[in-house]
Amino acid sequence: MESANQGAQVPAMDWQHQIDAGAAGQVLAAAIRQGHTHDRDALLFHDLDQLSARIAELRAAFPASTLHALAIKSNPLVSLLRFAVERGMGLEAASLEEVALARAAGCPAARIVFDSPAKTRREIAQSLAWGITLNADNFDEIERIGAAVAAAAGRCDSMVGLRVNPQVGDGSIGMTSVAGAYSKFGVPLEQRREAIIDAYRHYPWLRGLHLHVGSQGVTEQQLAAAVEKVFELRSQIHAALGEARIHCVDIGGGLSWRYREDSTVPTPRSYAAVLRARVPLAFAPEVQLITEYGRCVQTGCGFAASRVEYVKTDGGRRTAVIHFGADLMMRRVYRPDDWYYRFSVLAPDGSPKQGAPVAHTIAGPLCFGGDLLARDLPLPQIEEGDWVIIHDTGGYTLSMWSRHCNRGLPTVLGYAGNPPEFSCLHAGESPEDVVRFWNV
Ligand SMILES: Cc1ncc(COP(=O)(O)O)c(C=O)c1O
Repeated sequence: MESANQGAQVPAMDWQHQIDAGAAGQVLAAAIRQGHTHDRDALLFHDLDQLSARIAELRAAFPASTLHALAIKSNPLVSLLRFAVERGMGLEAASLEEVALARAAGCPAARIVFDSPAKTRREIAQSLAWGITLNADNFDEIERIGAAVAAAAGRCDSMVGLRVNPQVGDGSIGMTSVAGAYSKFGVPLEQRREAIIDAYRHYPWLRGLHLHVGSQGVTEQQLAAAVEKVFELRSQIHAALGEARIHCVDIGGGLSWRYREDSTVPTPRSYAAVLRARVPLAFAPEVQLITEYGRCVQTGCGFAASRVEYVKTDGGRRTAVIHFGADLMMRRVYRPDDWYYRFSVLAPDGSPKQGAPVAHTIAGPLCFGGDLLARDLPLPQIEEGDWVIIHDTGGYTLSMWSRHCNRGLPTVLGYAGNPPEFSCLHAGESPEDVVRFWNV
């Protein structure tokens, strides 16, 4: 196992990079010119060069032995998962279905990490048979795994860890924070420390530890504090067992994405430096780290483009009706104060729209009054046939697609190079596909 950082060889990229309106417009215009939009009114784009650079940057920041298991829930398109696997990533699965996606993407079993908090006995047995990494959420699950291992005459090829709630406090977004005093995930460290140590005493196949603090809105100091607590626990377990059993520590995901233009976010290198200073043991050669980042890798690679179908001027508002609403932007629509997004407007050919900003409401197509993506947003005057760009949709948008009102998935195009070359990441759904989905 190597402990040296790969970072020495890879020059730092601009981790704060955002795809701006001009760049999105050039990509959209090229896609229209090259005939890739097929007259679709709503498309998603994913920048594969950016994804490749972010993966390389992440890998460069941590020891070479680190397994970076990209969180499938951030974007489950199999072609993107395969792209990541081909670049050395593992995949983190939140359900057995996501394990199936990882397998479909060609991810080797040793690089699949299965984290669901609701694993059934059957799912546990199947995962152990595949030899994928399992993070147990609680003591009952540990007992189920114990029964399955006993049924296999004590054989356990999987790395099995226990998820601990390090209780370092919530981040700025309550709904995606999971390391408060109470969390539905993991075993609370302060209250159950002795029981955790006992579990390791009892089960020799328990060889990992797992934590996750939250997704968006947690600081690198909070993340590092959680890792520090779990490494202290690891030392206590080793002292109690009289052996150094815990080789593998999964430090979860949670590096934020830069949704706002006027903000900066921690980079993998800045976070690794904080971690190295605070928890040097995390970088020791005998430790295998696992990370589970999703948002910071995928989000900034994508943008959504929707034609403006209508512009309504009644009620003292200028309302642009577009083809994405809460189906793509669930969190934005239901929790707009938590989930800020950048919007811009382009002319029908993809060129930047000029003119003095006017307040616009951007309305989605779904049949409820609250399906609004933005209210009173100053943008150059929007007209029918223009494109509204929603920035930073590469993660946690398509993966949260809602069937409410049954609009089909949009076409998703990957692009790389300059001028961009396009590849189809998802063909999108026709009305017939939607009927197939719901039909017996
Ligand atoms: C257990 C676990 N790991 C990893 C992640 C990915 O987090 P992020 O995409 O913010 O890096 C999540 C997100 O909810 C999670 O629940």
